[in-house]
Amino acid sequence: MDFDTVIHGGTIATASEIYEGDIGIKDGRIAAVAERLPGGGRRIDAGGRIVMPGGIEAHAHIAQESSSGVMTADDYLTGSVSAAFGGNSSFIPFAAQHRGQSVDEVIATYGARAARSVIDYSWHLIISDPQPEVLEDQLPRAFASGITSYKVFMTYDLMNLGDGGMLDILTVAREHGAVTMVHAENNDMVKWMNRQLAAKGLTAPKYHAISRPELAEEEAINRAIQLAKLVDAPLFIVHVSTAGGAAIVQREKLAGAKLYAETCPQYLALTRDDLDRPGMEGARYICSPPLRDHATQDALWRHIASGTFESVSSDHAPYRADQSGKFLNGFDVPYPKIANGMPGIAARLPWLFSEGVAKGRITLEQFVALSSTNAAKTFGCDRKGRIAPGMDADIAIWNPETRRKVTLADQHDNMDYTPFEGLELTGVPEIVMTRGETIVAHGELKAAEGQGRFVARKPVDLRGRGGWQAKEFDPAQNFGAELR
Ligand code: URP
Ligand code: ZN
Ligand code: ZN
Repeated sequence: MDFDTVIHGGTIATASEIYEGDIGIKDGRIAAVAERLPGGGRRIDAGGRIVMPGGIEAHAHIAQESSSGVMTADDYLTGSVSAAFGGNSSFIPFAAQHRGQSVDEVIATYGARAARSVIDYSWHLIISDPQPEVLEDQLPRAFASGITSYKVFMTYDLMNLGDGGMLDILTVAREHGAVTMVHAENNDMVKWMNRQLAAKGLTAPKYHAISRPELAEEEAINRAIQLAKLVDAPLFIVHVSTAGGAAIVQREKLAGAKLYAETCPQYLALTRDDLDRPGMEGARYICSPPLRDHATQDALWRHIASGTFESVSSDHAPYRADQSGKFLNGFDVPYPKIANGMPGIAARLPWLFSEGVAKGRITLEQFVALSSTNAAKTFGCDRKGRIAPGMDADIAIWNPETRRKVTLADQHDNMDYTPFEGLELTGVPEIVMTRGETIVAHGELKAAEGQGRFVARKPVDLRGRGGWQAKEFDPAQNFGAELR
């Protein structure tokens, strides 16, 4: 076969094996993988390099207004460029429904915004207003169009669905094979803590970490899972930040819940002490759930290594440290008025490679699974996340030896800070491709605005996930009632 491109001489890394070989690319797809492949219009020498599936960033806020109306600093051009420099070939940001909006309106809005992307994209919806027409008509149509996941919130007054709302939407998701992602924090615990702190005048950024207790996450994770189990719906717990939360996920997976979860680099690289930096610098480290402590970091690493998490995602939520972002409500305001979130889409994979693989905490195969393959499986990207014939040629070529320090300029985003500034990293993605097109090479952008394509995703693949039967839904045990 006459390949457009052959990547030769590299070490191919997949989620299950590592081997020496060549990859032949034709018409944007992987056409062959073999010990040696001759020919190719273009030959890329990957000697001494790791050749792996391009990252799939499954948690990013791009060109998205928060519930309180703050627009992210990154749009689909800067956000996708930053993702590409971080070794990603595709991403799945959120398309957020705010109260009163139809899902169709949301998809049209984000369709226009995403037209600038340099990498392939899909969206997870955010649903904050599950009216009957949303549940019965708009969501099923979105699922059928390939948007097969959405996020809901158990916190923030403008987003929180309540337990009944969660059960309604989980039931719809179950019927259509869609994945419900959940931000799990107990809203009333947080609001009560806010009142205690405000009454004592404790409003500096560091108190953000105190206001959102570990127990608030643990309680909500447990509750979300029990709600999903009642109706046997798949559930994905996003940005797990506590040892207790991770332990609940681990236990419930073992017990048969159709459960997935992620954690994020910030919960392993930073602690709540970063919120106590001088002046208002701590505001840069405000995110929810909040940063925790060193003991939590150790526990989260053990959960990453032992398989509790499908993915390590960035939760890139870029708000600049100025009046357009963090300080939209003023510079000297109490912590509840500071925008929540921090950037990290370019840092996610270099950080995970360096702290995980280079330091021996996880294997290279686990790195591939956590950065790409598992997200493709969970979110139904059936042509991405693997190095195999027929797959999209979404490939990242890493130099595992390069050492550097994180700088803002290396992030290539539209931010005025990186929370990872100065961290020493080993390993860098030198070449990144989406569908066989080189988008980044040796620190230079090669992609054109708008070359990313929408990825229509499949329903979640639940093979091997037995599931759950609540007695109350079993006609043999509930006096014969057909409740489903
Ligand atoms: O603080 C954060 N993580 N902001 C982004 C929104 C979210 O909840 O993921
Ligand atoms: Zn969240
Ligand atoms: Zn998020």
